[in-house]
Amino acid sequence: MTLRYAVFGHPVAHSLSPRIHAAFARQQNLAMTYEAIDAGPEDFAKALAAFAAAGGQGANITLPHKQAALALCTSSSERAQRAGVANTLVRREGGWHGDNTDGIGLVRDLSERHALDLRERRTLLLGAGGAAHGVAPALIDAGIGELFIVNRTPDRADALADAIGEPGRVHTRYWDDLGNLGTFDFIVNATSAGREQGEMSLPMAMITSRTLAVDLSYGEAAIPFLAWARSAGCTQAIDGLGMLVEQAAESFNLWHGMRPDTAEIYAELSGRAVALATGD
Ligand code: ATR
Repeated sequence: MTLRYAVFGHPVAHSLSPRIHAAFARQQNLAMTYEAIDAGPEDFAKALAAFAAAGGQGANITLPHKQAALALCTSSSERAQRAGVANTLVRREGGWHGDNTDGIGLVRDLSERHALDLRERRTLLLGAGGAAHGVAPALIDAGIGELFIVNRTPDRADALADAIGEPGRVHTRYWDDLGNLGTFDFIVNATSAGREQGEMSLPMAMITSRTLAVDLSYGEAAIPFLAWARSAGCTQAIDGLGMLVEQAAESFNLWHGMRPDTAEIYAELSGRAVALATGD
């Protein structure tokens, strides 16, 4: 029987996950299908149940279902519970097991692909929605220094800080105070402003030439923030494509017990030529 996997989202047609998982499966010589299933918020639970009934073994979950997915799980990993959202579901006897590979995907992309040391970095996290929840615990575990969470709606920043539960290290501030917080070593844009063509006003004084700026989005959606960071003098500005590929590899490993090599698909998707060691 062919193994069945899928990504659920709304919209989901643009998702790169089917292409990434197909590449991993080819690389690992694994027979599986991986489809994109579009389900609106009212239909998500039903669509997921139908997928399970049809033999679905695992799923990735993208916007806007990551929170709902965790609620539908009968068990979940500690990292999914800490994040409060699930992006990976594994079919187990009796129900779905929820996990979250977004945070580890981000940390792996930065520390392994980009060879960056995140430890002790004074960090600003912009946004407090699902994406911010997904990555915050992993950033703490990666050893960053103080974490400042700033969100347009302050209550959500407070809720995220409470969920992380490290009051000595994690602080919330108002958006209007961004200009008074000093400089940061690491700024993560976890807002959806770029995806929604929303305006974001950010003071350039937060950035030095050593600041690492990361947008969790990729493609067009990441352009405004990364262009702002570069114009403010930041020399390292990285989009979320590497994170996407790494979280997929981690999901693949959870499902199949195999860790695929991510260099080739990352290079293909980022449109860069890859210098693969061919041995000749
Ligand atoms: P996601 O799953 O991508 O995080 P989300 O849960 O809807 O999506 O969260 C979107 C985040 O982007 C929120 O932090 C939101 O701020 P609010 O909580 O105030 O809504 C933030 N956001 C969206 N547009 C923004 C804008 N133009 N300026 C600043 N923050 C914005």
